[in-house]
Amino acid sequence: MTSAVQAAIRPIAWVDGRVRLIDQTLLPHREVWLELSDYREVVAAIKEMRIRGAPAIGVAGAYAVAIAAAELMVTHPGDFANQLEKAASEIGDARPTGANLAWAVDRMLHTARTSESPATVVEALATEAMAIQDEDEDANRAMGRHGAQLLPQGGAILTHCNAGSLATGGFGTALGIIMTAWEDGRISKVIATETRPFLQGARLTAWELTKGGVDASLIADSAAGHMMQTGAVQAVVTGADRIAANGDVANKIGTYSLAVLAKENGIPFYVAAPTSTLDLDLPSGRDIVIEYRSPDELTELNGERVAADGIDAINPAFDVTPHRYVTAIVTEKGVVRKPYGSGLRNTVEGTVG
Ligand code: MRU
Repeated sequence: MTSAVQAAIRPIAWVDGRVRLIDQTLLPHREVWLELSDYREVVAAIKEMRIRGAPAIGVAGAYAVAIAAAELMVTHPGDFANQLEKAASEIGDARPTGANLAWAVDRMLHTARTSESPATVVEALATEAMAIQDEDEDANRAMGRHGAQLLPQGGAILTHCNAGSLATGGFGTALGIIMTAWEDGRISKVIATETRPFLQGARLTAWELTKGGVDASLIADSAAGHMMQTGAVQAVVTGADRIAANGDVANKIGTYSLAVLAKENGIPFYVAAPTSTLDLDLPSGRDIVIEYRSPDELTELNGERVAADGIDAINPAFDVTPHRYVTAIVTEKGVVRKPYGSGLRNTVEGTVG
């Protein structure tokens, strides 16, 4: 039997100048790997959520820049730098809320600008994108170690959306902590919210948990309050898509409600994210751009209309949890507690272990 930690997959890889990724819109019933050789296809895959989860989107964006560079070196050798900046801005705009995409694209552009010569830039960019993925996986494993120790012995842990290996370069943020704690024998059960409307919990987190042999149950999003009130949850762990300088957290829609419910019920609420998700230039979560997605995600199920004809639908994909509801933020560099303003900055600067 595969252990919880061994079950983690890498959802994306660089193979001979192409991006190979598992199509997350088809999971859990079909495991289909796509091979993309044009950066525009990678942009489309990000927009359509074939690859999703803030850190995984960052890795995909980095590989997209590497693919674009190889193409532009042939088609626009004289205007390579300008054309690469244009392609990078198209890639960086694919989804707005997660911080990791812009962070990864900026890092790739920095590599391009500082590359020794046109002859080496394409190779340097591929190497940089692979480094971004490797570092993300290493960060997640470190977060797993830091975060597992926070969880109550024998407790049941609620998680939201999918912050597992699928959402990252590998291993997972919130789910990486949960898998580590499960493997350590520290926790007794995992409760996964289905995560309407895209069902990342029901389709993806449930897939990862069952593959890892974890004792887990799925609940409707609206059952979370009841579960907390009746003592069925001892801690909540979620991921994050962007964290502002004051510790406000943008994450999958519904996270804010869970955090308020956790506080009301005296349950710790932990957030796990690599430092690449921190956006310390943003003073607070009020400034985070929230992505609104197609109403069809809400009104249809598997392409079949379920909502009454003629009804409008509003589909914000993320919300912002004010920092006062967050018990601690787990990063690869350690666990940060309030006050987050100084704590997050010291963490990024490496002055806190
Ligand atoms: O819209 P998605 O599926 O890309 O949402 C992002 C997420 O997976 C979650 O919000 C997650 O907690 C942060 S990414 C590890």
